[in-house]
Amino acid sequence: MKDFSREEIDYVLDTAEKLEPVARGEKRSRLLDGKIVSLLFFEPSTRTRLSFEVAARRLGGQVLNLGSVEASSVMKGENLADTIRVISKYSDLIVLRHPLDGSARMAAEFTSVPLINGGDGSINHPTQTFLDLYTIRRESHLEGLKIAMAGDLKYGRTVHSLCHALSLYGAEMTFVSPPELRMPSEIVRVLRKQNIRVKETESLEEIIGDIDVLYMTRVQKERFPDPVEYEKVKNKLKVTGDLLKAAAPGLKVLHPLPRVNEISPDVDETPHACYFEQAFYGVPIRMALLALTIGVIE
Ligand code: CP
Repeated sequence: MKDFSREEIDYVLDTAEKLEPVARGEKRSRLLDGKIVSLLFFEPSTRTRLSFEVAARRLGGQVLNLGSVEASSVMKGENLADTIRVISKYSDLIVLRHPLDGSARMAAEFTSVPLINGGDGSINHPTQTFLDLYTIRRESHLEGLKIAMAGDLKYGRTVHSLCHALSLYGAEMTFVSPPELRMPSEIVRVLRKQNIRVKETESLEEIIGDIDVLYMTRVQKERFPDPVEYEKVKNKLKVTGDLLKAAAPGLKVLHPLPRVNEISPDVDETPHACYFEQAFYGVPIRMALLALTIGVIE
C-alpha cells in the first residue's frame, strides 16, 4: 500500500464503483478481451483467488490457474524466481500469494508482466486493503472515521496494510488485542509520528460504543511458531449479539474472512454485519486493479 498516494487510492475506488454493475452481472464488459491472468497461490485461499478469477472473467479475460502446488514443478524443486519467469511468458498479469514475507516484492524482480501481491507472509495484503477501504466508503465513511481493529494484530497482514492506508485519511484507530498479539510497535510508532490518534486496549466492551467500524480478524494459527501459544490466545476476543447492544446503530462489523469463532453466528442477521458484502466488494476492486494494471483503463 505504501506505493499509493491517497489520490491514487481514490482513483482505484472510483474505478471499482463504475465497474460494480459488471461485478454484479447487471452489465457486460469486454475490457480484458484476449488477456490472460495467471493465479499463483502457494497458500490456501477462497476469496482472493476466486474473486480475482471472477473479476477477470466478468471483464472478458481468461484465467490460468497454477492449481495445487503439489501438481506443479515446485514439487521438483523449481524456485519461485524461475516459476515467475516462466509464467510471465504465458500471461499478461500474475497474481501471487506466497507464505514468505517479501515474496511478492522479490517476484516482481523476475516477471516481465505486471504482478499483483495477493498476500505475502504476515507482511501485506494490499488488494484486501483496497476492498476494505471500498467497503468502508460504501457502507460507512472514510473521512473522520473512528475504527477499531481487533484480534490478531501481530500476524494479521490485512490490518498492517489497512493501518497505512487509513492514515492517509486521518482515521482515529483503536487496536484491541491480547498483549501477545499487539500491533507491531514499529507500525504504532509510525502512525503516532504522522499524528494519527492511536489507542491500545484489551477490551472490546470498553470501545464498542465509540466507533464507526469494528474490523475483526482471525487468530492466524498457521503463523504461530508454538501451538501452545496459539491455544492460550485463540478465544480471547469475540463479537456477539450481546456485545453489539452497546454499539452505535450505524456500526459496521468487517472481517476479511475466513472467520473461526471470533464473530458469533447471531451477529450475521444484525444490520451491523458487513463481512459477506465486504467479500463481494473484492470483485469490483479486483476488476479495477486488473484493468488499471494491464492498462485497459488509464
Ligand atoms: N480475505 C482473504 O484473503 O481470504 P482468502 O484467504 O480466502 O483469500
